Amino acid sequence: MMEQFTLSVNGQRRPLGQVSPQTNLLGWLRSQGLTGSKEGCAEGECGACAVLVACPELGAGGERQTRWEALNSCLTPVLALAGREIMTAEGLGTPEQLHPVQREMATRGGSQCGYCTPGFVVSMAAEYYRPDRSGGEHGVPNGFDLHALSGNLCRCTGYRPIQDAAYALERPAPGDPLAQRCTLPTAPAAEHQFSLPEGAFYQPPELRPALEFLAAHPAAKVVAGNTDWGVEVNIRHARTPVTLSIGEVQELKELRWHPERVEIGAGLTLSQIERGLGGRVPLLAQLFPQFASRLIRNAATLGGNLGTASPIGDSPPALLALNAALKLVSVRGEREVPLRDYFTGYRQTARQPDELIRSVVIPLPLATHTAFHKIAKRRFDDISSVAVAFALDIDGGVVRRARIGLGGVAATPLRALKTEAALEGQPWTESTVQAAAAVLATEGTPLDDHRASARYRAAMLGQALLRFWEEQW
Ligand SMILES: Cc1cc2nc3c(=O)[nH]c(=O)nc-3n(C[C@H](O)[C@H](O)[C@H](O)COP(=O)(O)OP(=O)(O)OC[C@H]3O[C@@H](n4cnc5c(N)ncnc54)[C@H](O)[C@@H]3O)c2cc1C
Ligand code: FES
Ligand code: FES
Repeated sequence: MMEQFTLSVNGQRRPLGQVSPQTNLLGWLRSQGLTGSKEGCAEGECGACAVLVACPELGAGGERQTRWEALNSCLTPVLALAGREIMTAEGLGTPEQLHPVQREMATRGGSQCGYCTPGFVVSMAAEYYRPDRSGGEHGVPNGFDLHALSGNLCRCTGYRPIQDAAYALERPAPGDPLAQRCTLPTAPAAEHQFSLPEGAFYQPPELRPALEFLAAHPAAKVVAGNTDWGVEVNIRHARTPVTLSIGEVQELKELRWHPERVEIGAGLTLSQIERGLGGRVPLLAQLFPQFASRLIRNAATLGGNLGTASPIGDSPPALLALNAALKLVSVRGEREVPLRDYFTGYRQTARQPDELIRSVVIPLPLATHTAFHKIAKRRFDDISSVAVAFALDIDGGVVRRARIGLGGVAATPLRALKTEAALEGQPWTESTVQAAAAVLATEGTPLDDHRASARYRAAMLGQALLRFWEEQW
């Protein structure tokens, strides 16, 4: 049964062989003798395990094409990629004929011990092949976005030579095989179901069979990008007898603009949403670069971020400020739940065991003044200590409507209702802001933990509105 499932690695089809639902792509590659991809952390933090995956992409004229996306292979179940096509650092070039990215890394001193190098090469290659990379973008002649490397850590070389290598890259040469591959479609995902001694794993390409499976197995572990669950499996040895992988369900990957709302599929990756929205929801455009790293955003979904119901997830404060609702779907039908009613307790939600989050619905028009503040120990690739999202309608110098979403200050993400009341109907002036900032500092019930003290969290809340005011000038 397993023999019929293969994975294309560096242009060669390989049978999956003996794997379990917990086998991640990194472990599988290394068991195949492809030891270029390394395990640094096994929790998505270092990027040493990065690989390229051929992902479906629509061309400018709507034609089906392919995009190379870099993922952390340590967090990706190999079964979720059955039938797919991947490239590792070994497949990009050979010692005799280095890939341009490998050549620049080597000649510009971008590698010392080399442990991180295959991961950097892969992330750099994804950016090298980014279809819309154009000269002058990101303030550099070759348009290279250094944030493409934000999920890769190097302990010994230092980042300057790596940056030099990135900025030295030209456009792919005519006839470059990976660039040519991008002009062809990605093979459609096949339905597959595995019953293995270690547990069952089902990955349907459509919603109906996913919902029927969940109705029959309400205790199944639902996984999408697996960036959350993968850490539980690798680090805390979590196991589940039944996995429902929804990463290929097409109905969860739709993004639609309507006159009065925008609806974002819960199964779209954050990178896909970022591209699909193209900055038209400024609050989310501000959030995405602060969410983990490009490697994580290429896999992580909004459904997963809301599914964890973590009080420190980054999307809930932003979506609360945007007054979003969730569409929940099951074989019994579909219902819409305002996000403010979705979180019912610490990591508890209004979602029933047989329901999936289908989409996130954001009402239009959007507020006139928005901002997302994430306070964390590191500026990028870190989890929030406190997050504050503002969405204010200011008209004629008066705050007509205020919505403020908070994360990290209570058992659930929440709205700052007292502060909203202190702002609404008031003139948008420094004295209004000062008074409302004092109220904001008292919202929630912040706790002491390893990320921040309760006092620090309250102080950050108090500062956030003052900062927002300053940012508006
Ligand atoms: C290195 C690293 C950095 C991170 N940084 C951040 C960060 O900056 N900010 C942040 O908020 N999070 C961060 N995370 C956490 C994680 O990436 C996010 O929560 C992400 O959005 C999870 O999405 P996923 O698709 O990978 O979820 P998965 O791991 O696939 O699933 C997570 C949970 O959601 C449920 N679920 C998934 N999809 C659905 C659905 N459609 N309907 C119902 N339930 C569903 C699953 O059952 C599971 O319980 C980070 C994680 C890592 C490893
Ligand atoms: S091993 Fe560190 S991100 Fe995968
Ligand atoms: S070269 Fe040693 S960790 Fe980067």
